[in-house]
Amino acid sequence: MSEKRSSFTGKIGFVLAAAGSAVGLGNIWRFPYLAAKYGGGIFLLVYIILAITFGFSLMCAEIAIGRKTGQSAITAFKSLDKRFSFVGWLCAVIPAIILPYYSVIGGWVMKYFAVFITGGIGNASNDAYFGEFIGKTWEPIGWFFLFFGLTALTVMLGVQKGVESVSKVMMPVLVVLTLFVATYSVFMPNAMEGVKYYLIPNFKDFSVMTVLAAMGQLFYSMSLAMGIMITYGSYMKKEISIEKSVRQISIFDTGIAFLAGIMVILPVFSVSGNTDVNAGPGLMFQTLPKVFASMTGGGIIGTVFFLLVLFAAFTSSISLMETVVSIIADKTNWNRKKICLIVFLFCLLMGIPSSLGFSAWSFISVAGMSILDMFDFASNSVLMPLTALVTCIFVGYYLKPKTVIEEIELSGKFTAKKMFVIIIKYVAPVCIVLILISSVLNGLSSLPIFEKFKI
Ligand code: PHE
Repeated sequence: MSEKRSSFTGKIGFVLAAAGSAVGLGNIWRFPYLAAKYGGGIFLLVYIILAITFGFSLMCAEIAIGRKTGQSAITAFKSLDKRFSFVGWLCAVIPAIILPYYSVIGGWVMKYFAVFITGGIGNASNDAYFGEFIGKTWEPIGWFFLFFGLTALTVMLGVQKGVESVSKVMMPVLVVLTLFVATYSVFMPNAMEGVKYYLIPNFKDFSVMTVLAAMGQLFYSMSLAMGIMITYGSYMKKEISIEKSVRQISIFDTGIAFLAGIMVILPVFSVSGNTDVNAGPGLMFQTLPKVFASMTGGGIIGTVFFLLVLFAAFTSSISLMETVVSIIADKTNWNRKKICLIVFLFCLLMGIPSSLGFSAWSFISVAGMSILDMFDFASNSVLMPLTALVTCIFVGYYLKPKTVIEEIELSGKFTAKKMFVIIIKYVAPVCIVLILISSVLNGLSSLPIFEKFKI
């Protein structure tokens, strides 16, 4: 730790890198689906309110912890309070679990981009195409290798030359491409029906689940509770305002999620006339290619779409890898190249089973989940809420909010101070426990033992 710690060059670099992490597959394939399922406009409203209160507070806390200690998760928690070192370990395990399978999916996106740009839209729109592709043994592994190799190379270049410069190019381009596709969607036949469906609040659909679903999504979407924002905070200069940066990151993240809804729901509505918007791979790799194939200019729109998704996924996977690398660097003093190589090999080995889970190893399943789904479930539904919960308890009752507030006030007044304290101490812990319960039950709902309790 004798070397000077790297840092982002300034506020723009920091905000774009953090937004690069936040804007990812979750914004594009999960947000539109949840919005459509949980009452359209009402979901959007709840989501925005939660983003500026709950998401804002948690992100401020994480970034401040990183910046105050100048360390990534494990050493950050350890230096603040030895008893809470385990939270740092949780934060280290989560990105290490997510990175391999996230990169497997990144590889799929890359493949689809390659197919679309070479005029293969006709093939890709075939119902069986996706299943056949992931059902192959080697091809998806090859794409995973390529996607992840590029991620590793970027991270190897370092915080400024790698992470920051890639985000500074990809994020603005992503915004432009998103606006382009979203604008096109608005002018499709029947688009207004889709707009109504997506945006007009439907109070009948409002329930406690709306709030829980929005909150769960928010977590994932803002890349919280997995050490990423702690690591990025540790690269942030003291004179940059945490409060303002967090506001900008959340506007970025929520803005892209909102536009993704326009980009995805409207075309599906326009072409199929129904609201059959599903989530996850089915939406991105089956429904949308079909929709693109049946619209004028679909080849171009599809190509642009997969390029923007690729950028979104790439900047997110960089943040995952940077977090793992930085945690190891803070613990060991090894040089960056060596760590990148080790992480690369480790994640390569971990990713291969996730990929094979759809082909040679498809016989492996637990509670109805494929290998990839299992990793997803363990990280998103169990470990992340757990980590968020202990982080809030730690900040609220052991470290005390004052310490975080002082760090934030190093660069100006913290206007949302009161709200921050109330949320971290009282609101967030209760809500997170509810998310944890509901997401575990949801994930396990296919187990026979839970079958009986289904409503
Ligand atoms: N925030 C990203 C998204 O919305 C997901 C992500 C999760 C990114 C974990 C990095 C790490 O898709």
